[in-house]
Amino acid sequence: MTASGPLTPCAHPTDPVELSPASFCRFARFIGSELGIKMPASKAAMVQSRLLRRVRELGLESLERYAEYFFASANGEEREHFINAITTNKTDFFREPEHFAYLREVVLPARSRERAGGVRFKAWSAGCSSGEEPYSLAMVLAEYGGSQPGFDFAILATDVSTKVLNRARAGIYQESQISPVPPDMRKKFLLRSRDNAARLARVVPELRQRVGFHQLNFMNGDYGIKDQFDAVFFRNVMIYFDRDTQQTVIGKICRHLVPGGYLFAGHSESLAGLDIPVTVVKASIYRKPISPERGR
Ligand SMILES: C[S@@+](CC[C@H](N)C(=O)[O-])C[C@H]1O[C@@H](n2cnc3c(N)ncnc32)[C@H](O)[C@@H]1O
Repeated sequence: MTASGPLTPCAHPTDPVELSPASFCRFARFIGSELGIKMPASKAAMVQSRLLRRVRELGLESLERYAEYFFASANGEEREHFINAITTNKTDFFREPEHFAYLREVVLPARSRERAGGVRFKAWSAGCSSGEEPYSLAMVLAEYGGSQPGFDFAILATDVSTKVLNRARAGIYQESQISPVPPDMRKKFLLRSRDNAARLARVVPELRQRVGFHQLNFMNGDYGIKDQFDAVFFRNVMIYFDRDTQQTVIGKICRHLVPGGYLFAGHSESLAGLDIPVTVVKASIYRKPISPERGR
């Protein structure tokens, strides 16, 4: 099967690193219903290479054998490994830096003015991957709080993948990964490993304590979140969803925005045409109206 070739029913492939079109379709349907992620035939090579690692870990002889193993108990223990293998977790510290500048220069001063007498700013990194996004948020919020008496903050960070959540909780990164962090913040918020050869840095405990990491699948009926947030970063996740899933998920996320709260989407993601209670304030940044009759 080629990466972009059409999928036609055929016998089992003889190549152990290939999935039959029928098995690929079965995985694609599972990924769509469990994660909301579109998996067109053009992604077959990517799915194969991601699952191959798991096939080797399990010591199975082929991808086709893995498909049989997986679908024999798709809701069993293997489900978590499968989700960890199949999700795209690319992220960076201060990815799309204009969002962090807007947070610092517009959102935080606005929330402080609107809530004179003390602010507990709550942010949600929805689809947080390995933690770079929520820790970047924590750095900006900690910096701002340092010059604003009465300002406090807390961050919820969620993802469906337990693998990235474990990495995020540890808060340990390669030196090459921390290069987008501005030098003054690096000094304040990242601790270099004493072992120079390891070239690792860890987020300081004061910031790690501000971020609560939890597993959450956006396809769940109920997100089980009690909080309302001043800012939600939902970036580079919905790009993988079909339009109906985007509508449902963003609708639910918006219910967790306070009136006047901000929603940040990825630069390549558009909310245009979705029926959601936010209005655009800047490219890829949205706000829920302050007046309740205009919001929902
Ligand atoms: C490309 S990363 C984006 C990370 C970060 N928001 C950023 O912009 O750098 C997308 C993340 O969404 C998560 N994800 C994908 N489908 C999900 C779902 N149905 N529920 C929750 N998280 C999901 C993936 O595990 C992955 O870590």
